[in-house]
Amino acid sequence: MTSAPLIDPLLLTTAIEAVVRAGDIQLARFGRAMRVDKKGTIDLVTEVDLEVERMFRALIAERYPDHQVLAEEMGGSATVPPGPCWVFDPIDGTTNYAHGLPIFCASVALEVNGAAQVAAIFDPNRKELFTAELGGGAFLNGRPLRVSSAETLVDAMLVTGFPYDIHSRVEDIVGLFGAFVGRARAVRRLGSAAIDLCYVAAGRLDGFWEADLKPWDIAGGALIVSEAGGRVTNMTGAPFTSRGKHVLATNGVIHDAMLHVIDEFRRSRAPNRTD
Ligand code: IPD
Ligand code: CA
Ligand code: CA
Repeated sequence: MTSAPLIDPLLLTTAIEAVVRAGDIQLARFGRAMRVDKKGTIDLVTEVDLEVERMFRALIAERYPDHQVLAEEMGGSATVPPGPCWVFDPIDGTTNYAHGLPIFCASVALEVNGAAQVAAIFDPNRKELFTAELGGGAFLNGRPLRVSSAETLVDAMLVTGFPYDIHSRVEDIVGLFGAFVGRARAVRRLGSAAIDLCYVAAGRLDGFWEADLKPWDIAGGALIVSEAGGRVTNMTGAPFTSRGKHVLATNGVIHDAMLHVIDEFRRSRAPNRTD
């Protein structure tokens, strides 16, 4: 008999501590005047993003000085490093945060050779802590999570997000959005990819797609969805990697139907493609 390799429980404890501490900092500063800079035309960074990331880097440096860190504001290895690497988003939903809209979280995953082992995502507004360990299931505040059982797109509520370069390719992004709006019960856009993924894991939403994501947006949430019984691939159906940029995460049942809509839309935009 073979058994799954044991994951050191202190890793998940550290992940949880990081996102809960992040939530404390986020809430303490939320709705107050703060410095907001632009990384691009519509891509913001607040002083709180930086403060939370500094806290996280100090925590990992103290506890795991030989582990790598990849986080949004101060970077990290451009390719998957060998061994353990913490992938962290100090605020997922920065645009919401900067506008005073209470939909944001912190997200972390510990990857080993690019594969997530543990994940924690904390929404401080709702006090919702989503966690997962590879092979150990997914949980919301300690209760087991399970994806929905919606069987068809017309019975499904979907969610997506828009990339920061959307101004230069509105037709592509909104065209696919329209294709799903024309088939699903409803489509939402919450502004936090990590929360989108947690809601798929919790069965509140049935499917999530988005192009042009970064590892810190999706590394934690993808593990939480798959540990809740869902299916996670990229948008062409190939295996998920957090560095793969695009993601499709569903309850599993509607996955192929969503892949079909994406494929149909791509072919309609580029009729001669064969991939
Ligand atoms: C963004 C959010 C948003 C998604 C963007 C992400 P940020 O992350 O997850 O929902 O649509 O693609 O970049 O910038 O708030 O950390
Ligand atoms: Ca993010
Ligand atoms: Ca962020």
